[in-house]
Amino acid sequence: MEEELVKIKDEYRKQLQHLVSETEIYQFKSRYIGRNGSITHLIKELKNVSPEKRASLGKKVNTLKKDIESSVDEALKRSRELKKKQKILEQELDVTLPGRKSPLGSKHPVTVITDKIVGIFSSLGFEIIEGPEVELDFFNFEALNIPKDHPARDMHDTFYISDEVLLRTHTSPVQIRTMQKTSPPLRIICPGKVYRCDSDVSHTPMFHQLEGLMIDEDISMADLKGVLTILIQQIFDNDTLIRFRPSFFPFTEPSAEVDIQCVMCRGNGCRVCSSTGWLEILGCGMVHPEVFKNVGYDPDKISGFAFGLGIERIAMLKFSINDIRLFFENDLRFLSQF
Ligand code: FA5
Ligand code: MG
Repeated sequence: MEEELVKIKDEYRKQLQHLVSETEIYQFKSRYIGRNGSITHLIKELKNVSPEKRASLGKKVNTLKKDIESSVDEALKRSRELKKKQKILEQELDVTLPGRKSPLGSKHPVTVITDKIVGIFSSLGFEIIEGPEVELDFFNFEALNIPKDHPARDMHDTFYISDEVLLRTHTSPVQIRTMQKTSPPLRIICPGKVYRCDSDVSHTPMFHQLEGLMIDEDISMADLKGVLTILIQQIFDNDTLIRFRPSFFPFTEPSAEVDIQCVMCRGNGCRVCSSTGWLEILGCGMVHPEVFKNVGYDPDKISGFAFGLGIERIAMLKFSINDIRLFFENDLRFLSQF
């Protein structure tokens, strides 16, 4: 028994030194002074020791037990303090870490192109005018030389609200509203939403147009071509070619559609331009004398040009987007690229 006491005394400190967690220390405690612990065991054994030795041995066992108890208490205290320090360390603020960035929005590609075009025309002295999206038949059609039975109405796939009220199918009614209120000369652009019952890879039921109108004495097709050339070259490249192709609009005479050299293949022919080398971006022409009469202008004294371009179409060409519907799906993976 004496030997065992010495052995325990030698060993227990070494063992205790290596223990870190509270659980380990409690396990250690029960190994020695728990109900089945070795010291507890020795205490029980005391009754078998001869009476003369019992007193001194009993004293030694008790001292050892007290030593272990206080060592365990110290170890527990150490362990708890260590845990606390670690916790503080974990929570410590590292001021050298980079800050968390909140994601920054960007302009919608339609807005990017609209801003760009508005900027170009502002620098040319054009005024920006807006008109209503819910429009009267009179402004959207009648006054633009498209009477009720005119076949050109079929081209527009109109959303009617009532016989006389509709969602505007183009920005041209803003021409009429402006001319009614203002006398020439006039230089305006009218950006805005327009609506047509139409949907595929290059058509959406709501899209954006930008109307242009310039009226003065002696305005000719040459002015129209000059202004549109500046526009296209500033949006795309300085060497982008444009061509005028004869067309028909009831409110212009002569009328044309403007194509630009395909920005994908530079005119060599590809899938996007159906191998023609050209892409349509707008309609235009010299304002029809009938339209001038409808707003009280004298077609013998003044002349003017007008054009209407599709903003999404330009954005598609500028950013190489092959489906117009992507603009309106609100997919951040698409939108965050601009
Ligand atoms: C017009 O809307 C005429 N008001 C343009 C005009 C103005 C001519 C002034 C003469 C003088 P058009 O229907 O072709 O024309 O449309 C003009 C452009 O709008 C087209 O070239 C195309 O770029 C775009 N566009 C037409 N329909 C859609 C649609 N459903 N979705 C997207 N873009 C469209
Ligand atoms: Mg057209």
